[in-house]
Amino acid sequence: MSIKDEHLIVALDIGTSKVAAFVGEVAQDGGVNVIGMGVQPSRGLKRGVVVNIEATVKAILRAVEEAELMAGCHIHSAFTGIAGSHIHSLNSHGIVAVRDREVTKQDVDRVIDAAKAVAVPADQKILHVLPQEYMIDSQDGVRDPIGMSGVRLEAKVHIVTGAVSAAQNIVKCVERCNLKVGDIVLEQLASSYAVLSDDEKDLGICLVDIGGGTTDIAVFVDGAIRHTAVIPIAGDHVSSDIASALRTSIAHAERVKMQYGSAMATMIESDAIINVPTVSQTSTREISQRALSQVIEARYEELLSLVKLDLQRSGFLDDLSGGIVFTGGSSKMVGCIELAEQVIGLPARLGKPTMLGGLPDVLNNPAFSTGAGLLLYGQRNQKGLGTLELNNPAGLWERMKSWFQGNF
Ligand SMILES: Nc1ncnc2c1ncn2[C@@H]1O[C@H](COP(=O)(O)OP(=O)(O)OP(=O)(O)O)[C@@H](O)[C@H]1O
Ligand SMILES: [Mg+2]
Repeated sequence: MSIKDEHLIVALDIGTSKVAAFVGEVAQDGGVNVIGMGVQPSRGLKRGVVVNIEATVKAILRAVEEAELMAGCHIHSAFTGIAGSHIHSLNSHGIVAVRDREVTKQDVDRVIDAAKAVAVPADQKILHVLPQEYMIDSQDGVRDPIGMSGVRLEAKVHIVTGAVSAAQNIVKCVERCNLKVGDIVLEQLASSYAVLSDDEKDLGICLVDIGGGTTDIAVFVDGAIRHTAVIPIAGDHVSSDIASALRTSIAHAERVKMQYGSAMATMIESDAIINVPTVSQTSTREISQRALSQVIEARYEELLSLVKLDLQRSGFLDDLSGGIVFTGGSSKMVGCIELAEQVIGLPARLGKPTMLGGLPDVLNNPAFSTGAGLLLYGQRNQKGLGTLELNNPAGLWERMKSWFQGNF
């Protein structure tokens, strides 16, 4: 970014369905306004992971060009997301002795280092170390321990790891577009910045981002992240189910899904008949709106049951007093929220990017939560607050450079 653009932040959400580039301007009051956007169909990813560098680079270049034109700026670096089933997470804790009977920044750094001393498989690297709470002597539930008196400091953290190769491929794509990576952020963590309030995180809430290739889960209880998971089923599976049921192309299946579909077949009152061209385009096939919705409902029901199972296994299902917030393009499906309440048995709402201002096209669309959240993450990072929950102002990217030595 040029000097005069220093109050601009750029986010690049490289998704399975779309690549979205957003330019955000930091307002005087510290808020972020989205002033530019570029969205391009994505063809280089499968289940959240880059599988075709050329195709991804093309989509990024076009999206960035559009966003630059709209915002009237030139983009040099961007914050980007990471997702996919290679992501794993665990909770860990560390204990250290406080050096001078009053906790300093160094003590906090040491206790975080102790907490992240866990065995990670050779092909995986730690992406985030997110502090949940600190304990000083017998006092628990401390959020900011610096300056407090005590002799023993303990930290509970949530550790997220991912495949080195997946992160490398994202960086390669972004760098081939002559952009620097500001930082790489777990996608559901980014989305949470844009759609969840602090009150919800205190109360206990689960964020579920249903995209094209993956469904990403993040659980917050007592203000801190407790659990993250990725389910490799999302909107693309719904579209391919429709395509096989109707023996039509994915593009036609996608269109009828959005135009006529519902995740609750019982909500369909009319028995309208939809005509869909066959794959060969030589004839059309007929399906009732209700039958179409039955196909959709089956897949959404499976997905939502997997979300419930994951929450049960993680042990947090009973802690979600705030319920569940759904976001991502596939959460826009008619009936999705109602079906979720029925299957999971918790109150649910649709989450849109609300924690920032600017272009209504972005703010009204749940598909843009990750991109909007990356802007908010970037703003914290740029303001020198550090990546608040990372507890490492240098961020992931600095650490990643060391893993990559000799790889470029
Ligand atoms: N109105 C709608 N109703 C139902 N589904 C929709 C609607 N709009 C978009 N979708 C679906 O949302 C999906 C894309 O969502 P999104 O843009 O969040 O994905 P992505 O971020 O590119 O993918 P991922 O995060 O999985 O890598 C597609 O499967 C698309 O069919
Ligand atoms: Mg996404």
